[in-house]
Amino acid sequence: MSTPIPATLIPGDGIGPEIVDATLAALDALQAPFVWDRQIAGMGGIQAAGDPLPKATLDSIRRTRLALKGPLETPSGGGYRSSNVRLREEFQLYANLRPALTIIPGGRFDKIDLVVVRENLEGLYIGHEAYIPIDGDPHAVAMATGINTRAGSRRLLEFAFEQAIATGRKKVTIVHKANIMKALTGIFLETGLDLYEKKYKGKFELDTVIIDACAMKLVLNPWQFDMLVTTNLFGDILSDLVAGLVGGLGMTPGANIGADAAIFEAVHGSAPDIAGKGIANPIAIMLAAAMMLDHCKLPDLAKRLRRGIDDTLNLDQVRTGDLGGKAGTAEFTKALVSRIMNS
Ligand code: NAI
Repeated sequence: MSTPIPATLIPGDGIGPEIVDATLAALDALQAPFVWDRQIAGMGGIQAAGDPLPKATLDSIRRTRLALKGPLETPSGGGYRSSNVRLREEFQLYANLRPALTIIPGGRFDKIDLVVVRENLEGLYIGHEAYIPIDGDPHAVAMATGINTRAGSRRLLEFAFEQAIATGRKKVTIVHKANIMKALTGIFLETGLDLYEKKYKGKFELDTVIIDACAMKLVLNPWQFDMLVTTNLFGDILSDLVAGLVGGLGMTPGANIGADAAIFEAVHGSAPDIAGKGIANPIAIMLAAAMMLDHCKLPDLAKRLRRGIDDTLNLDQVRTGDLGGKAGTAEFTKALVSRIMNS
């Protein structure tokens, strides 16, 4: 029996509770040694405690330093600040690791094996924004300030380069817009090139590409890329694009990693359009749980979970609607649990 591992569990909003329950069923079948401390955040936090990030949730993660988190709703335009962004800031989760791997063969883009490494704390994402009222229009002008630092860029690029070496990636591509945002994204590019030259030269191939060209190249020939490393907002957009190459948002997990804490989640959001219908694809957050198992040095359990998902999709042909199948969340989970039990 493995040593128990205390971990915070945030089921989240929308489809969150449905896909988190499905993931717990798979983890129970694996006898994963997590001891969960269940907490709330996002809209659930507002409704139950009047706070999108209650103190009890923060205290729990301060204690466990490890969390599995369902998606959290953030109102667009006005309203409260994203609890996801606040969690990343609070625990200094500076690296967002988002792998995309083809599991179902024969799709429009086959054999994709890509990873996006996104800077998680800086850039245009920090939300330093303001309106300037003119002539009675309170929203006449909108402004946003982006901040990238040499230290923050270096920390993230170093994480990406080490990750590339540890996982045998052959090529790393720095994605930027330094032709236009010469300072804001130029500092990221410059830091990456300098770091590679001084510390990593020859350990893998380094390439650079401008974000708009990168988007086009990803659609025309995604196989030319191996690992993409980029600033916060570009990483946010590119990881959804890359999710589309492997069957959609139901297939891509994410890990938010800091020096001494980690939060695992799906790339997708709370999917309010399908919440409560029992049709959500739970695979993205299950793959996030597999990343969490790897992070906790339980690679055998991670491997069994990934193999179970693969076999359920490809041997049993049990798939949710977003993957062209007819199964609901519960039917998929039942088939997966049975695969895991027999593995
Ligand atoms: P979304 O990712 O929730 O949904 C986009 C589309 O993908 C929808 O049509 C949805 O039904 C579909 N989809 C997403 N996950 C799916 C799954 N597991 N199975 C089947 N279909 C799935 O993005 P949207 O609608 O822009 O955002 C909804 C809310 O989620 C917003 O409040 C947003 O702020 C929040 N959000 C939270 C994130 C997080 O907690 N990390 C990440 C992204 C968005």
